[in-house]
Amino acid sequence: MSSKECFVYIMLPGETEFVTVAKFELTTDRHGISTGRFVYGKSYLERNNAVPLDPYELELGSRTYSTTLLNGVFGALRDASPDYWGRRVIEKRSGRTDLGEMDYLLESPDDRAGALGFGLNPKPPAPKKKFNKTIDLVRLQELADIIIADEDLPDGAEAAQVQDLMLDGTSMGGTRPKAVVEDANALWIAKFNRSDDKWNYARVERAMLELARECGIRPAESRIKTIGDRDALLVKRFDREKTDNSYRRARMLSALTLLRAEDTHQDRTKWSYVLLAEELRRISSQAKTDTTELFRRMCFNALISNTDDHPRNHAVIAMDRDWKLSPAYDLTPSPQISKERRDLALVCGDMGRYANAENLLSQSARFLLEPEEAKTIIDEMEAIVTKKWYEVARREGVTEKDCEKIARAFAYPGFRLNIKAIAQTETT
Ligand SMILES: Nc1ncnc2c1ncn2[C@@H]1O[C@H](COP(=O)(O)OP(=O)(O)OP(=O)(O)O)[C@@H](O)[C@H]1O
Ligand SMILES: [Mg+2]
Repeated sequence: MSSKECFVYIMLPGETEFVTVAKFELTTDRHGISTGRFVYGKSYLERNNAVPLDPYELELGSRTYSTTLLNGVFGALRDASPDYWGRRVIEKRSGRTDLGEMDYLLESPDDRAGALGFGLNPKPPAPKKKFNKTIDLVRLQELADIIIADEDLPDGAEAAQVQDLMLDGTSMGGTRPKAVVEDANALWIAKFNRSDDKWNYARVERAMLELARECGIRPAESRIKTIGDRDALLVKRFDREKTDNSYRRARMLSALTLLRAEDTHQDRTKWSYVLLAEELRRISSQAKTDTTELFRRMCFNALISNTDDHPRNHAVIAMDRDWKLSPAYDLTPSPQISKERRDLALVCGDMGRYANAENLLSQSARFLLEPEEAKTIIDEMEAIVTKKWYEVARREGVTEKDCEKIARAFAYPGFRLNIKAIAQTETT
């Protein structure tokens, strides 16, 4: 049996310094089962501005919470930990491949999503103030390439500088290569193109964020930055708010956490837009606005065949005390062969994950929408996607050739297949 513990810090609403929140202990038994234990500190509970890290799973109180879900790492904490990409960078930097959940939490630098921090000291550290700048993107892109190719990192005099550069951005989640950079006004996530990408991902994602905006969705702010002969997508961080000489931080919970789901295919029964709408009704301070927005995002993903819309690609944030749906991010089309049936990652109606208008409409009441309202939203969005995807893509610099590659992602025939008619022919 092994056991490791750390302290959890938070930047409270309106503040720019960390305070200590809790102690978190992770124990792994001889069968490899990990149990996490979390207990709020007495001094934190005595604060009159204390907020819970998760309003349902980790309510404010003096009891010890424990979980074996998500390898023992409570969702609210796991959301502040890196995923595939960040973990790969940490492994590369440390030269180790035997790292556990606690190592990833502690090894990743203080630029993680949300308002939390982790450390071994009961007293919180000063928050990070120095970030890579957009001018460093050339070097950051080179480093990302080295990591993708699994080549050796430069050593000698350069090594220290490389280590510093690499640290930034590793705390953010996701699989694609990325880094966090700062310009005069904000922090941005730079998402790099990979040499083996099938099309220019940066420009296509930028186009999808803008197409979403045309469809009445609230996307994250973004822009394209050309680095050498390659493009990168810069997405403005919505969990940071610039102050005079620092940043305020919003708490952030992924949909995976809200749904109390594991990140595995076996647990996919819990991956559901319908259940997520119910969770939004519970947590959001603007329920109807957010469930309507979620409905739009679900329809949009169906209309652009964004089948990678997994629960970490949705989140709620709280810059102050109130929670609301975050801006939309990570929208990518996936032009599949199938014309009749494409499935989203989350259940969207009575017919499961089927990206089909009737299916999307079947549970619209759970999104607090009248049937007519829901129908109008779908009809309007379908018309906009069909009419504008190409125009928006070209405007955002997606080449003609790349447009051809992604064309069959949009408003595919199965979106309008009549489910009842199919069911009837199958039974007769
Ligand atoms: N604008 C933003 N502000 C704050 N956090 C963000 C923003 N965009 C993304 N994130 C966080 O960073 C994570 C990774 O971002 P994103 O999903 O765009 O990367 P990705 O590598 O394409 O992901 P995937 O593995 O789903 O393909 C998200 O899951 C979310 O937690
Ligand atoms: Mg993602």
